[in-house]
Amino acid sequence: VQPWRGLIHGYRRYLPVTDQTPVITLHEGNTPLIPVPAIAREIGRQVQVFVKYDGLNPTGSFKDRGMTMAISKAKEAGAEAVICASTGNTSAAAAAYARRGGMRAFVLIPDGYVALGKLAQALLYGAEVLAIKGNFDRALEIVREMSQNYPVTLVNSVNPYRLEGQKTAAFEVVDVLGDAPDWLCIPVGNAGNISAYWMGFNQYHQEGRSSKLPKMMGFQAAGSAPLVTGEPFKHPETLATAIRIGNPANWHKAIAVRDASQSSFNAVTDEEILHAYRMLASQEGIFCEPASAASVAGLLKVKDQVPEGATVVCVLTGNGLKDPDSAIKFSENNFKQGIEPGLEEVAKAMGF
Ligand code: F0G
Repeated sequence: VQPWRGLIHGYRRYLPVTDQTPVITLHEGNTPLIPVPAIAREIGRQVQVFVKYDGLNPTGSFKDRGMTMAISKAKEAGAEAVICASTGNTSAAAAAYARRGGMRAFVLIPDGYVALGKLAQALLYGAEVLAIKGNFDRALEIVREMSQNYPVTLVNSVNPYRLEGQKTAAFEVVDVLGDAPDWLCIPVGNAGNISAYWMGFNQYHQEGRSSKLPKMMGFQAAGSAPLVTGEPFKHPETLATAIRIGNPANWHKAIAVRDASQSSFNAVTDEEILHAYRMLASQEGIFCEPASAASVAGLLKVKDQVPEGATVVCVLTGNGLKDPDSAIKFSENNFKQGIEPGLEEVAKAMGF
């Protein structure tokens, strides 16, 4: 078995790197594709469902795929500092990779709307964290301008190297299944990841590594669903804070993906997201963050459209540990506290 040394090493010939590119890696990628039989049973009709558990990346989200590329290329270009706007995961990944590459990392986050684990990561990795009294969309406008006027490299998904790195997730799916899936279900915020998967599936298809291209099923939170309604949301809201985005930077790319794969964007409510979030954990043993569960919530919502015998992959973009507050708040209420430390009392509390 060849040891895995990160996606730039693993997929070098598909990526815009040369021998001169310094590879800044935490050995990201190569995440498992796990069958989820309880979810498949809900759909029936011999459908096979897998989750691409990208929450197992080094900083706990798919952003590491994009960041190993963006930060390596920034380093190659001589950058000394990077900047991003973030709902949390990008900031954690940018911080980890930038610091590992000896660069400063500036991150702008919407004050009060970043899950605890993500903020903890960015701070400890050594990012310079600026919380603004505004939402993600405003933060992104600011960092785009900052990067044009100051010596800081932008590492949001408008940086093309981000998508180059993230497309490798599609390669991994095809490498494991032996072909592309029929459907790919994916949460959509800024729409970088859906665009990256589409690039990856197409590149592999052109190389003859798959016989088909998947239908790309993008799901947004109902309170932040500009690609579903066709209009930016001025005040996006959802408990899935990772995808609380009203004006996606990759809007045009996302529409092109939708049209090319003859699919549609759909919205899932916070209730539907929470149902999938709890179901993944309590029936499949898989802990993802709420935004990630939007992919499974979406699949369950449109399950009648899944073709008989189809293979479906749902992308789980982030680890559940990112957002411990949501886990505690939205878990089924089976937490009994204040029990006297005696055998009898414990047995009674157990219902015996
Ligand atoms: N899932 C998670 C867990 C995310 O953190 C994000 C985006 C998405 C899905 C959506 O991906 O933006 O490529 O459509 N998070 C960004 C961030 C915005 O700042 O961490 P997308």
